[in-house]
Amino acid sequence: MAAPATVAETSLSGLTLVRRGKVRDVYAVDNARLLVVATDRISAFDCILPTQIERKGEVLTQLSRFWFERLSGVTPNHLVTTEVERMPETVRRHAEVLRGRSMLVRAAEVFPVECVVRGYLAGSGWKDYLRAGEVCGHRLPPGLRESEKLPGPIFTPATKAEEGHDENISEARMSEIVGPEVTARLRDTSLRLYAEAEAHALSRGIIIADTKFEFGRDSEGDIILIDEILTPDSSRFWPLAGYDAGGPQPSFDKQFVRDYLETLDWDKRPPAPPLPDGVAASTTARYLEAYRLLTGGEL
Ligand SMILES: Nc1ncnc2c1ncn2[C@@H]1O[C@H](COP(=O)(O)OP(=O)(O)O)[C@@H](O)[C@H]1O
Ligand SMILES: [Mg+2]
Repeated sequence: MAAPATVAETSLSGLTLVRRGKVRDVYAVDNARLLVVATDRISAFDCILPTQIERKGEVLTQLSRFWFERLSGVTPNHLVTTEVERMPETVRRHAEVLRGRSMLVRAAEVFPVECVVRGYLAGSGWKDYLRAGEVCGHRLPPGLRESEKLPGPIFTPATKAEEGHDENISEARMSEIVGPEVTARLRDTSLRLYAEAEAHALSRGIIIADTKFEFGRDSEGDIILIDEILTPDSSRFWPLAGYDAGGPQPSFDKQFVRDYLETLDWDKRPPAPPLPDGVAASTTARYLEAYRLLTGGEL
């Protein structure tokens, strides 16, 4: 059977689905490992669209793999392999659907905080700054403009909300949740990961305005980096060309989708409308371009 052009949702017999996220389907493989499958679903304005984006799942998975390898000197991570042929037989049976878009990972006990790092002022960081002049307890200089580069990257943790938006919290609040030692460790690691990734991306023409990491404890009790990392779905990527603080920046990957949806009379509540073929195709091209620029290779 030929692999389908896009995958909207997986249903893998013989494996237990533990979570269906906006984009990723997560399965238990055995008691120590999970399979994280990136589908081709795309969300915009917090709604999952009925149209899938060809190659998107592959780009998310292969970009994460690239970064896990590149940043393995900063912190150990959960990745076992992205090669379906090297996965257990229960997974290999579904190779046609899973190839390219799946990560076999070590299951971790997840810390219930999102470790966000911001190098630029956007999104909820910009909103917090406008309201309070600070973000997660970081007092910032007055007069900063939307999308402006911060004097230095800041660690701005958030709670993991099941429904609705994550809530930004201070480091002090994070310490109450996971303890001061873990907080310091996750903060320092997150800042180092961001600094390395941001410098690399910038040299390739992409600004990583902000990004989110997750960490957990493996079966030995060691802290490891988990989830996807430094993908367009977990980060704000802006094209460096044309960057101009003082307003919102175009999204590297989703701008065509947003621009199109803004032309419609849609209230941004589910169900979301479908995308025209041209918009979906241009969006695929953007994901592939992000991969090419960041990794220097072709998918
Ligand atoms: N190694 C791991 N061990 C345990 N949970 C993990 C691991 N890697 C990722 N996860 C969890 O998988 C889930 C992915 O689901 P979710 O974030 O809802 O998907 P999406 O990003 O598609 O919306 C997250 O809750 C994340 O914490
Ligand atoms: Mg997530």
